[in-house]
Amino acid sequence: MNASESVLEPASASLPDSVTVRVPAKVNVQLAVGGRRADGFHALATVFFAVGLWDTVTARPGRGVTLTVSGRDADVVPTDDSNLAARAALALAAHHGVEANVALHIDKDIPVAGGMAGGSADAAAALLACDVLWGLGTDRETLFGLAADLGSDVPFSMHGGVALGEGRGERLTPVPVGGTFHWVFAVADGGLSTPAVYGECDRLREEAGGPGGADESRVPQPSADAALLDALASGDAAALGAALGNDLQPAALSLRPALARTLRAGTEAGAIGALVSGSGPTCAFLAKDAGAAAAVAAALVKSGTCREVRLTEGPVPGATLA
Ligand code: C5P
Repeated sequence: MNASESVLEPASASLPDSVTVRVPAKVNVQLAVGGRRADGFHALATVFFAVGLWDTVTARPGRGVTLTVSGRDADVVPTDDSNLAARAALALAAHHGVEANVALHIDKDIPVAGGMAGGSADAAAALLACDVLWGLGTDRETLFGLAADLGSDVPFSMHGGVALGEGRGERLTPVPVGGTFHWVFAVADGGLSTPAVYGECDRLREEAGGPGGADESRVPQPSADAALLDALASGDAAALGAALGNDLQPAALSLRPALARTLRAGTEAGAIGALVSGSGPTCAFLAKDAGAAAAVAAALVKSGTCREVRLTEGPVPGATLA
């Protein structure tokens, strides 16, 4: 081809027919919740950890933004503009002043409303997939900014690995990790609403500390746990298990008392750490190796205290073109 031919080529000639992005779930190995801020969010020091349960988002040319969903619990995932993936496509298009034309398809494997950032994962994947489909070449900083506007967990879904999240969770610093960790997740029947769990956390704090007891002025500023960061850096599963912590756990247990039995069943089966994942209701168990994880999973199935049990490892990378 000579130069004049290439000039006549339509701009879209090199754009793909379809873009697929794989994106992982997360568990917060630390979730330290500070006081309620004036904007209603809570100051966090949280250590996000990406685990190998994946949603897959495919973007194809379309008219307007349309969304279809397949896979686990597809029937309870909204397919209108309330879905964070659709909002991600609209936000990216608006940022660039282009028309939002895309047919998105989500194949779900991350538990829905389970405290594992499934909706945030889909938003991160949709941002990346639309960016490539539309040939926008958005720089990383802008993509992360758009991600943060969509939700507190969306930047981490792009980032993956392990990272400390500050602010409302959107300000990330990578955390070094010295090994692979083995996880078991007990998926509960039905989800929990994240705002409801934060609200219950505030209510419990006010119950204990009186009026204003949940406010920023009264709750200490949260900070990362040095023992937990050391355990991650050295790949020490036992030390990580001992350091796991989630300030939202009392609130999740208050709203869903049956989770206490799930946590007990996994601990009695040999888990070296157990906690509610994010705002729940999924419970996360750390095992010392793959064999121990299989034993914990089998015991959880037998206990009848959860709907489904998932085994996986981490950390894994964030949203990635497939
Ligand atoms: O940021 P995102 O939209 O995921 O947050 C959902 C809800 O969770 C917020 O509306 C708020 O009620 C609660 N939240 C919070 N503090 C945070 C993150 C989330 O109170 N740091």
